[in-house]
Amino acid sequence: MNYRHAYHAGSHIDVFKHAVLVMLLEHLRKKPKGFTVLDTHAGAGRYDLTAIEAQKTGEAADGIGRVIGKEIPTAAAYLDLIRRLNPDGLRTYPGSPAIIAAFLRDDDRLIACDLHEEEAAKLRRAFRGDPRVAVHHRDGYEAIKAFVPPPTRRGLVFIDPPYEKDDRDAWRRVAERMNAGLRKWPGGMFAAWYPLKDRDGIDRIRKAYDRGNPPTLAVEFLRVPIDGVAFAGSGILIANPPFGIDAGLKALGSELLAAFDARNGSISLDWWIPKA
Ligand SMILES: C[S@@+](CC[C@H](N)C(=O)[O-])C[C@H]1O[C@@H](n2cnc3c(N)ncnc32)[C@H](O)[C@@H]1O
Repeated sequence: MNYRHAYHAGSHIDVFKHAVLVMLLEHLRKKPKGFTVLDTHAGAGRYDLTAIEAQKTGEAADGIGRVIGKEIPTAAAYLDLIRRLNPDGLRTYPGSPAIIAAFLRDDDRLIACDLHEEEAAKLRRAFRGDPRVAVHHRDGYEAIKAFVPPPTRRGLVFIDPPYEKDDRDAWRRVAERMNAGLRKWPGGMFAAWYPLKDRDGIDRIRKAYDRGNPPTLAVEFLRVPIDGVAFAGSGILIANPPFGIDAGLKALGSELLAAFDARNGSISLDWWIPKA
């Protein structure tokens, strides 16, 4: 477990991932009934972009730094949040649990897990005193077994693993834990992020993904075409996606491509399991 998100926080990959996350949260907020989000691989929750880790990679400057001042209508709520956190210039970036927490209402809940002790401790400090948020220092995949379905019976399981090089089973594990989670909670929304350097990993997820799962959509945002070397972009596999989200995701992709001036980039949607 060597991965530290502090090096990558606010990258173009985070921008896409978190803009989609906010879309899903906005959908959940449409109904007054409370919802629960399980963030299985939550990370530290807040990242200092002036710290040595972020400065070393420059990913935030080339990611959120490139778009924070631009008009991106489909990502307006996400960008507003980043701007509110940075009234005096870009210095801090929220991780997924901080983003989710910003969209919780009184009856909504967040369960945030991280297996790394330091990240879990940071999360605990960040959410101390917030009764809507529970932090667990535990394996996120085990947490799916333990917390799904949540008492609210509405919500999202957000799966954002590091896919470390020495963890060859990571891809298959994502599919298997989604399969198991969806068996326990067939109506739950599940969103699993995956990196796109090549297609080997996502092909492994697809092979192990249960054909009997509920409707499932894969959305992929590539800033540059895949060449097998660089991180060209990433995808999010969404089980039980909100009705009509296709148009929003396509618009988000086009607006992000324009904001990043990514002329060779692309947005694509693929229904792995179509709506009945
Ligand atoms: C990509 S980062 C998460 C970023 C975060 N979701 C965000 O969007 O801001 C992956 C995190 O997973 C944690 N991790 C690795 N293996 C884990 C496991 N089995 N269960 C829970 N967390 C794990 C790492 O410590 C790391 O903080």
